[in-house]
Amino acid sequence: MKFFADTADVAAIGELDALGLVDGVTTNPSLVKKSGRDFREVITEICGLIDGPVSAEVLAVEAETMISEGRKLAAIADNVVVKLPLTLDGLKACRTFSNEGIATNVTLCFSANQALLAAKAGATYISPFIGRLDDINVDGIQLIEQIRTVYDNYAFKTELLAASIRNPLHVQSCALVGADVVTAPPSVIKTLANHVLTDKGLATFLADAKSAKISV
Ligand code: E4P
Repeated sequence: MKFFADTADVAAIGELDALGLVDGVTTNPSLVKKSGRDFREVITEICGLIDGPVSAEVLAVEAETMISEGRKLAAIADNVVVKLPLTLDGLKACRTFSNEGIATNVTLCFSANQALLAAKAGATYISPFIGRLDDINVDGIQLIEQIRTVYDNYAFKTELLAASIRNPLHVQSCALVGADVVTAPPSVIKTLANHVLTDKGLATFLADAKSAKISV
């Protein structure tokens, strides 16, 4: 399973990349706002920092304008993925980019039917939002399972990119049901290494080594 960093924070991406834990990056307008950086400038910097795909989202709601914005974003770097909302206009733009060989990430997906349409439009990635479904008392992981089944039934090539990841259990559940990618905040990715028994065991080993005067 690939890990994408869901952030426009360049320092946080660099820190995770040094651990070998960044296969790509996803951004959205809210994350760019949070970074306080100029949109094009921060996408350019992230694209130079990592080899993997970097999703940058269009702001238009009408297909022709989405296409023109997406072409501008794709021209920033070879690893830009044009992020499009899951609307009929977004799907139309997705089909155009797919025909042109430009990578796409169809975002704001909340149902298996929406994911089916994105795959038929030739999306490179589909981004179902787990956390936002959980927030309204709908099981987000169940949606990941459903999309996995639909895509496997018809051998769609669109990669299942689980988004809106809020905690380590979301990551584990996505891995168990076969998401191709999870995109998560760097803070969540780092917590995957934590276990109370690891900390306890390490403390005991170090204490024993010290009392026995063991050295390497
Ligand atoms: C990723 O592509 C999404 O923009 C992101 O995961 C949304 O996460 P949120 O629901 O925590 O804002």
